Amino acid sequence: MARSAATWDPAQYLRFGNERLRPALDLLAQIPLTAPGRVVDLGCGAGNVTAILRQRFPDADIVGVDGSEPMLAKARMSAANCTFEQADFFQWQPRHKLDLIYSNAALQWVDRHTTLFPRLLSFLALGGVLAVQMPDMRATPLHQVSRQLAASAEWSQELGDAIPQPGILPVMDYWDMLRPQVASLEIWQTTYMHALQGENAVMQWATGSSLRPYLDRLSDERKSVFRQAYADAVRSHYPRRADGTTILPFHRLFIAATMAA
Ligand SMILES: C[S@@+](CC[C@H](N)C(=O)[O-])C[C@H]1O[C@@H](n2cnc3c(N)ncnc32)[C@H](O)[C@@H]1O
Repeated sequence: MARSAATWDPAQYLRFGNERLRPALDLLAQIPLTAPGRVVDLGCGAGNVTAILRQRFPDADIVGVDGSEPMLAKARMSAANCTFEQADFFQWQPRHKLDLIYSNAALQWVDRHTTLFPRLLSFLALGGVLAVQMPDMRATPLHQVSRQLAASAEWSQELGDAIPQPGILPVMDYWDMLRPQVASLEIWQTTYMHALQGENAVMQWATGSSLRPYLDRLSDERKSVFRQAYADAVRSHYPRRADGTTILPFHRLFIAATMAA
């Protein structure tokens, strides 16, 4: 569970807020509910998506759940008329059955999905929906470069045990696990061509997310050395285009599971 213990920096995460928001909206667009009564934003982070859930469902009771107090502090300022709870995904338990559990870019931070997903379904009311979006970038240079660096002679003593274990399962495992338990199931994958601006854009992106488990282990000085080494190693995989933009192809898995009414 080392990944779930990562410290989160809302400002760094939101630096690419527009790119990170788009899949959240695409997931929201596929939720087949008009007026759910009880909604949870699981892994709500800085609350920017919780605020959009509030706009879409003005009469719902909306609770944001997250393990990070800095993220929740930001969320409390971002999303009006919502409540927030600090909890780990595996410990959290709602007080009432829920109409919607929405989770954007959060559940990939933990493993044991074969325990977690059935547990989440068990919290849903009749006709309730579990809507999940997870990045699936394990097999890409974005993650491979950091894993290779952490395992190298220079870094393995400090970072060898920070290398994340895969959390997300092969896509068909979600089908086989969820389909027998729900009335309808939609699963889809999208590759977003995120167009990032600025110097070392991929390193900056990763600093807000996938590098966190490594950076947490390092002193400020070693953090800068690691980030620079990552920027140098990842650059050739995501070259800057002639117009200064860096394209980061980003694979995301979406799940919308609806319980029988
Ligand atoms: C990438 S952020 C996504 C935030 C938000 N859903 C969004 O779309 O902007 C992932 C969030 O998951 C939370 N998280 C990761 N592992 C967790 C765990 N085991 N329990 C609770 N929260 C966790 C982190 O604290 C972080 O705020």
